[in-house]
Amino acid sequence: MEHKGFTLWFTGLSGAGKTTLAVQVRDILKESGYKVELLDGDVVRTNLSKGLGFSKEDRDTNIKRIGFVCHLLSRNNVIAIASAISPYRDVRDGIREQIGDFVEVYAKCPLEVLVERDVKGLYKKALAGEIQNFTGVSDPYEEPLNAEVVVETDKETEAESLAKIFVKLKALGYLASTGGDGYTKEEEKAVEDRLRALGYL
Ligand code: ADX
Repeated sequence: MEHKGFTLWFTGLSGAGKTTLAVQVRDILKESGYKVELLDGDVVRTNLSKGLGFSKEDRDTNIKRIGFVCHLLSRNNVIAIASAISPYRDVRDGIREQIGDFVEVYAKCPLEVLVERDVKGLYKKALAGEIQNFTGVSDPYEEPLNAEVVVETDKETEAESLAKIFVKLKALGYLASTGGDGYTKEEEKAVEDRLRALGYL
């Protein structure tokens, strides 16, 4: 299926749900016949960004690398999905400018809830001073000012957050036909079936 590429960029604190949502979006789009790649911060840090730490400089390098790859993919009509804290607004906005077809999703969740959940046990360590420069605790996170989508993961179900993302992508024209056969009824049905299975529809 021919379709236009774009980058779907998830930003937000550790544990806010970026990767969970990104994986679901990827799977739904794949099932619907789209070409899609996911660049996840935790994974990228084991290969493309291996050896980088969490200083501002290293984070910026990590994010610019992810942005660069997203750009290459997007311009070749692949949907690139990035999932990384990406704490600095100017770097995110720079990538937005570079890519153009850029949709930012802010996975928003209050720090208290993340500390309470503490899925990876890292907040406890960060609060105890055992991890330095931990985003949200001892390192900055700059919220997006104009994200296309804001998902509030402490208030919404996963399916609700996913639906918000798909509604916006459709409204922006990224999931519509770009000519030829494009977006078929079958593909549309696959997205709907998936959302229904998740209890949204
Ligand atoms: S980013 O700042 O460069 O965008 P990235 O998303 O790649 O970060 O990696 C964040 C992940 O690294 C977190 O989910 C967490 O598991 C781990 N991590 C380890 N140390 C830190 C730290 N000091 N700050 C934030 N995350 C950390």
